[in-house]
Amino acid sequence: MAQTKRIGILTAGGDSPGLNAAIRGVGKTALGFYGMEIVGFRDGFRGIVEDRRLKLDRATLAGILTVGGTILGTSRDKPHRMTIDGRVHDMTSVIVKNYGRYGLDALVCLGGGGTQKNALRLTEAGLNVISLPKTIDNDVAMTDSTIGFATALDIATETIDRLHSTAHSHHRIIVTEIMGHRAGWLTLGAGIAGGADVILIPEIPYDVHKIAEAIRRRSRAGTNFSIVAVAEGAMSKEDARPYNIAEARKEKARNQREKHEAKLELAALDARHTGNTLRLAKQLEELTRLESRVTILGYVQRGGIPSPADRLLATRLGSACGDLIHENVFGVMVASRGDRTEPVPLERVAGRRKIVPPDHPWVEAARRVGTCLGD
Ligand code: F6P
Repeated sequence: MAQTKRIGILTAGGDSPGLNAAIRGVGKTALGFYGMEIVGFRDGFRGIVEDRRLKLDRATLAGILTVGGTILGTSRDKPHRMTIDGRVHDMTSVIVKNYGRYGLDALVCLGGGGTQKNALRLTEAGLNVISLPKTIDNDVAMTDSTIGFATALDIATETIDRLHSTAHSHHRIIVTEIMGHRAGWLTLGAGIAGGADVILIPEIPYDVHKIAEAIRRRSRAGTNFSIVAVAEGAMSKEDARPYNIAEARKEKARNQREKHEAKLELAALDARHTGNTLRLAKQLEELTRLESRVTILGYVQRGGIPSPADRLLATRLGSACGDLIHENVFGVMVASRGDRTEPVPLERVAGRRKIVPPDHPWVEAARRVGTCLGD
């Protein structure tokens, strides 16, 4: 008789609504449908290093479909660069050893872009790894969508709806900052759905004078308020230039030292970018003479109960993950493709970010309805 499979599962990176629905999807399929055993690791990859195990049984998996966050906890720890007692260590070999010690046949990693890279590293270290894509940023390559995006889109859209009435009453500009450092999917989607007058995303650097002109045009036409939806990582054309140079330097680095230097440069530019939304609102106030206010959505976008769309996506991806483990398919991410799911080799996902193409249909639609994209 074939031996019972034992699988491990962890959530890593920033949390997002729908993670528990995905844990439940994988767990119920593995446990209930295939009769496997499943053990959770708390706090991302650190959980395997520090033996933070949580046995997942029917009782633990019950009632979590609608719960926000992750019952396993999460962290941004990387297997190859983990801080232990104040010092950074490569813990890959410890993870490999513990995987064996715990008698695992597979490890399921739920995470965003960083987690996909770490999943590939562990695959290359010889483990049977399978991953699921989650992040409110929707920027994981090779999948139509990621767990958490739909809920965050609902939250950000509802916020824009609410800001409309107050902006209208006070004849103000309200600049609302939406999450997304490198990808503008959330801001673009919520901006379109919420009818923002200006949408600024990292992929399309902006000219503040063009934004001011669009707002002044609205005023001349008798509308004395505007909603500006700005992604965390949106930048002016001037700020984008040094950033792009540093990014290219990182991409073309010939050795670790050059890569490290480019990363330091990017980190310094990121630090300088902090507070950009406040500066932008002030500039717009000066240029348009309309009172401006700022609303930063922040972590509210990642909290609370997942939307039905995310529960559905998480359950589809989670159950497909259980099927793939049963079929011994590893080294892949379970991607969403239309109504179907598809295993995509981790090599094709890791290190690639899905950003908004400048000619994407959402961008075109926004332009058609008269939204200013700042360019
Ligand atoms: O990746 C999801 C995300 O919420 C981004 O939109 C945001 O830039 C980042 O995480 C914030 O990271 P942290 O949780 O580490 O503050």
